Amino acid sequence: MKTILVTGGTGYIGSHTVVQLLNAGINVVILDNLCNSNKAVIQRIENLTNKSPYFVEGDIRDRTTLRHLFEQYSCDAVIHFAGLKAVGESEENPLKYFDNNVSGSVTLFEEMLRVNVNTLIFSSSATVYGNPGVVCYSESTPLQPINVYGQTKLMVEDILRSLKKSKPDFQIALLRYFNPVGAHESGQMGEDPFGTPNNLMPFISQVAIGTRPQLMVYGNNYPTPDGTGLRDYIHVEDLAAGHLAALNHLGPDNSFITVNLGTGRPYSVLEVIKSFEKASGKTIPYEVVGPRSGDLAEYYADPSFAKTVLGWEAKLGIDRMCADSWRWQKNNPKGYL
Ligand code: NAD
Ligand code: UFG
Repeated sequence: MKTILVTGGTGYIGSHTVVQLLNAGINVVILDNLCNSNKAVIQRIENLTNKSPYFVEGDIRDRTTLRHLFEQYSCDAVIHFAGLKAVGESEENPLKYFDNNVSGSVTLFEEMLRVNVNTLIFSSSATVYGNPGVVCYSESTPLQPINVYGQTKLMVEDILRSLKKSKPDFQIALLRYFNPVGAHESGQMGEDPFGTPNNLMPFISQVAIGTRPQLMVYGNNYPTPDGTGLRDYIHVEDLAAGHLAALNHLGPDNSFITVNLGTGRPYSVLEVIKSFEKASGKTIPYEVVGPRSGDLAEYYADPSFAKTVLGWEAKLGIDRMCADSWRWQKNNPKGYL
């Protein structure tokens, strides 16, 4: 039976992936410092799977923790979710992001090398493309991130491309996520941001449950059909399944892949509001304000390579994304607290 180290495994995408790994009969060790997640997630994972992941509370930058972990558990692969992801904060505090996301990743890779764990899946992001002048991003679209968070993701990608050249035995998948939303169908696991949500779906959910009075729609003068921003939202369960597909694909003959994980079908802010209203039966009050700095009008994945190479494609549409987000929010009005 395989054992996989999941860094950031108590976080939003990590927790959903851990459930799928455990359900697939894979042992899981989670390493998370809980800087953006709650330990209560573990109990939910156990409820959903009747299995227990091993949990190590610690930091990917802490070499001693990593050494102990790799001594204690014999890991076959690493799925590396741990990272900070707030674009605005990355601009205000770049060193924090370079330290956590880049130095932390280097420390993790060095310790993997020491113990010959050479299979890795890395959480990259569509943000590595920056503002390339096209709206449909394929994996060969030029990479030019426009914020520090995106730079950290591209730097780690570059580090892994160099690592692969120097250590051909490494098997690496770089997965570029578009906009993950939704929650586990049970309503027991979902996104639980600390403080005010930066992202659209958790903000809408909190308006629907009454935690916040209204949504601010950032701009309605974009060159899009209804004037609001278009994004490629992808259900977190589809995204998690993409990791299992990547894990299955990697092997001596398929040892380095870079794949977009998106649906290829973008939705506008107003379309998401409408779908959420339908799913929840609630009205979402909103006010249109000016555009948010750094936002693009529109982008979405070309998901065809993922289908060809991994045999993976997203299955769940926007109505299901909203229904599952709402079920999670309704059952857990204060998140995991
Ligand atoms: P999240 O914040 O819910 O999960 C990240 C987890 O990593 C958290 O549990 C946090 O406590 C942990 N962590 C952070 N720094 C750590 C460190 N130094 N040591 C140990 N643990 C640490 O975020 P998420 O949405 O689940 O994202 C997971 C990954 O996917 C991140 O790398 C993120 O950058 C990437 N990503 C996310 C999105 C998105 O919109 N959610 C989009 C593209 C890429
Ligand atoms: N939006 C609003 N009001 C809000 C929040 C968002 O109108 O309160 C709009 C944005 O302007 C955008 C859309 O909703 O048009 C989606 O915004 P999100 O903040 O949910 O997502 P982004 O596309 O801006 O960014 C997300 C992640 C980044 C990641 C990027 C990758 O937050 O970390 O996707 O594609 F880099």
